[in-house]
Amino acid sequence: MNVIEKMKHDWDQRAQHHARFWIATENYQTEESFAQSGLDTAHALLKALTGLHHVSWKVLDIGCGIGRTLKPLAKHFQSLVGIDVSSAMIAQSTSWLSECHNITTFETSGVDLREFNDQSFDLVYSYVAFQHMPRPVFEHYLGEINRVLPPDGYLAMQLPIGQYCDVPIEDTIGIRSYTFEEIEQKLRQNGLAFCDKPTALLTSASIHQSFDHRFHIIKKIKMIKPKIQAKRIQLEHPHYDSPLDMHLYETYAEDCARVGKRQEGIQTLQFLVHRNPEHLAGWLQLTALLLENGQIQQAITTMQELTALHPRYEEGHATLQRLCAQSQQANIASQEQQEQLF
Ligand SMILES: C[S@@+](CC[C@H](N)C(=O)[O-])C[C@H]1O[C@@H](n2cnc3c(N)ncnc32)[C@H](O)[C@@H]1O
Repeated sequence: MNVIEKMKHDWDQRAQHHARFWIATENYQTEESFAQSGLDTAHALLKALTGLHHVSWKVLDIGCGIGRTLKPLAKHFQSLVGIDVSSAMIAQSTSWLSECHNITTFETSGVDLREFNDQSFDLVYSYVAFQHMPRPVFEHYLGEINRVLPPDGYLAMQLPIGQYCDVPIEDTIGIRSYTFEEIEQKLRQNGLAFCDKPTALLTSASIHQSFDHRFHIIKKIKMIKPKIQAKRIQLEHPHYDSPLDMHLYETYAEDCARVGKRQEGIQTLQFLVHRNPEHLAGWLQLTALLLENGQIQQAITTMQELTALHPRYEEGHATLQRLCAQSQQANIASQEQQEQLF
């Protein structure tokens, strides 16, 4: 598997699970809250572009998802195009954007903009998408953005800047951040430059606590030579699971339990532990949720499965013993009750 195939596979899987959740983890619960978050992001983009943007502009959104931010921007621009590596996201964008006649969306390769002619957009923007891409993929996009922008075109991008942070190349969702020097150099190499130096850069203390969601406005400063096709980077560990992916599945299951959708939470955790049997916290969370749902036998079976897979996992054995004892007691109690009835 190469890096493109993994990005497609992973994001398709997320989109098929619950696109709104994987796009806007804090605002996915209802269509209204999701739409409101899109409006907020669109306002942030327009604010960042104050005095620069024009209604006649043609706009490109890289990593558009189902079109959360495209929709509220429709009335501000002449035409908008959204592209995404995931066909499942694009499939869902059709219904989310059904009323917006000046927006089109496409599944693309995930590394380039080969579908578009040189200088075909006035503005390219991207929100919570570049931060998830492996560095070489992001860098390749920068060259392509230079190509599709006219000499006075702009890029508005969200990207955490201030501290260096990377995750394995196989990780398609973990967050990468860049030092100011690194990003400035990558932009310059691709004929681009910040309009204003970003303020309030991430510090080592803030990097793991807060995400940097600001838009940075970048202008094209010169044409560069067209890039050679992106290399298809082969992956050594194609089945790598991102810790952030695991954490977000757990979060989703917790949310389900909180709003009384226990069965959906259980299914999510079952999917998670079978996909990654090493994820012990997921097994324990699944067992707890099964118990909460009154499914003691399934909880026991789950713990048996876990201890068979991890015979040295003492907490698993202890939990299994406890559950078996609990179940025995419950059986005795119900037998006694029945005997009293007759
Ligand atoms: C967190 S979602 C954000 C979606 C959208 N930008 C928004 O703010 O609503 C990240 C999106 O980026 C897309 N994506 C990830 N890697 C990509 C790549 N290499 N090229 C294009 N899209 C990509 C994913 O499929 C997903 O739809």
